[in-house]
Amino acid sequence: MCGIVGYVGPRVATPMLIEGLKRLEYRGYDSAGIAMSNGHGLETRKAKGKISMLEGLVNGNPIHGSVGIAHTRWATHGKPNECNAHPQVDCTNTIAVVHNGIIENFSALRKMLQMQGHTFKSETDTEVLAHLIEAAFDGKLEDAVIDALALVEGTYGIAVLSSKDPDKIVCARKGSPLLIGLGEGEYFVASDAAAILQQTRQVVYLDDGEMGVLTKDGYEVLDLDARRVSKGVSRIDWSLDEIEKGGFDHFMLKEIFEQPQTIQNTMRGRLVVEEGFSKLGGLNLTKDELKAIDQIVITACGTSWHSGLIGELYTEELARIRCEVEYASEFRYRNPIVTDTTLCVVISQSGETADTLAAMREAKRRGAKTLGLVNVVGSTIAREDDGGIYLHAGPEIGVASTKAFTSQVAALALLTLKLARLRNMSVVKGREVAEAMLALPAQIQSILDHASEVEEIAERFKDATNFLYLGRGYQFPVALEGALKLKEISYIHAEGYPAAEMKHGPIALIDSEMPVVFIAPHDAVFDKVVSNIQEVKARGGKVICITSQEEPVLEGMIDHEIRVPQTIDMLYPILTVIPLQLLAYYIAVKRGLNVDQPRNLAKSVTVE
Ligand code: F6R
Repeated sequence: MCGIVGYVGPRVATPMLIEGLKRLEYRGYDSAGIAMSNGHGLETRKAKGKISMLEGLVNGNPIHGSVGIAHTRWATHGKPNECNAHPQVDCTNTIAVVHNGIIENFSALRKMLQMQGHTFKSETDTEVLAHLIEAAFDGKLEDAVIDALALVEGTYGIAVLSSKDPDKIVCARKGSPLLIGLGEGEYFVASDAAAILQQTRQVVYLDDGEMGVLTKDGYEVLDLDARRVSKGVSRIDWSLDEIEKGGFDHFMLKEIFEQPQTIQNTMRGRLVVEEGFSKLGGLNLTKDELKAIDQIVITACGTSWHSGLIGELYTEELARIRCEVEYASEFRYRNPIVTDTTLCVVISQSGETADTLAAMREAKRRGAKTLGLVNVVGSTIAREDDGGIYLHAGPEIGVASTKAFTSQVAALALLTLKLARLRNMSVVKGREVAEAMLALPAQIQSILDHASEVEEIAERFKDATNFLYLGRGYQFPVALEGALKLKEISYIHAEGYPAAEMKHGPIALIDSEMPVVFIAPHDAVFDKVVSNIQEVKARGGKVICITSQEEPVLEGMIDHEIRVPQTIDMLYPILTVIPLQLLAYYIAVKRGLNVDQPRNLAKSVTVE
């Protein structure tokens, strides 16, 4: 979603701000802008479309200064156009604001400000902030921001400039991430560490209700009553290589190919093979507390919700603990049954998804212990959960989630191993799971080595208008994930279904034009899935089958086969999803689409 970057220091700001915006491109946006305070008032440039448009504008009409803020906007209130792009300014062009989030009472505030004589130019909710700060300004920008924010309902991560209090950036957060980057005699503000990684690795994460005041001479963090808050400095461990394409055509392909390594990183130091056990240092739960858990609620969105469905099967089948998986957006507005012996497992790649964060807070409020399975270190969910398992998958830049999914499933397997071994799982069974997990990186690599076979299948089906993905047991969530990957980047309509459920409706869709992807490794329900394949074949559907060994029974029934190595039933999702990620990727590329930044999508959904 929207991205913020700002700079104050001795250097010329524009190149750094443009570079920072480019690092935020992956989050999804439709316009961009930059504002500078340079002793001659505020200068602003804005453009609809890609950062390259803004860059062209700035090259043609340079904007000078060393105190500036910049933004990528993902439209919520008002069309994507130059006027609605941020920074938004006040009537007198003395205040410039960039904003992530949504001001919920903007309509009432706008009316109030109009009655006071303020003139609005854009359709955005953000513009009210510029006018509110203008109205409250009395010489000190941070005081005006505090007064303005007191009137605001909603969520925000903001950065503000004023030509009347120059050489300063004021930033503040409520519900939308923001960090301050610390350089040598220079300071940055950003909504995502990727924007400033090239400049500094030392950061201070702002919490809700906090504000940063940045000048060349230093920074301070205040609460919204202007009291100083003392904050720790964190170090970002990501390398620059990790946020670059490294020779791949797209981030998504790079991230698919990183999976042998990323899954290894998720498991590193956590598997005790001899004892069939896992060591998870960050749970913050004693053995007795772990044993007392009598219900698990998993809450997440999108791809993370799909991994949660696999987690449900793990915890019920292996640890014998009742488990519910909830869309975070639904959970937060229900009246769920949660007690102090409930463990709420919160899954999120970004650690910033607004619905997931709200669901976690709700579970906490109801007395549950919360456990975050999060990829982005220092993200809000990671900081607010009671305990956590970091995925260690490295930055995921492609909008379509790939490596985070496999790492989430691996982390859920590690968690299950721990819970199950504390209950009823034998050491022999635990060892079997641990050994099978250790084999996964090489097995993923062997699937990737045959990516060209998936590419050929993509060529055959790139013009299809519908796809069905079918699987049973552990493969049903994989079917959902395969369908989601295809629709989000290729814009082909795709549905995932439990294979046997197909005959209760979707079978009506099947004709000779319909590709049907069966995820049918040789597991406990393989024979059942074979009957479902027959039902599709009998109706002329084109069958693409992901399976795990040569099966004479499939002869004549399938049109295309993709083979994955053999593993234990519970770990097949980590292997079978790989060809589905590749299939979606190659189809989208062959359709000429922007794989890393699909239309309408944002990487981290920080609005409700
Ligand atoms: C799909 C995708 C989204 C995310 C969802 C949750 O490829 O990326 O469905 O999985 O928005 O995001 P996180 O995991 O960051 O909470």
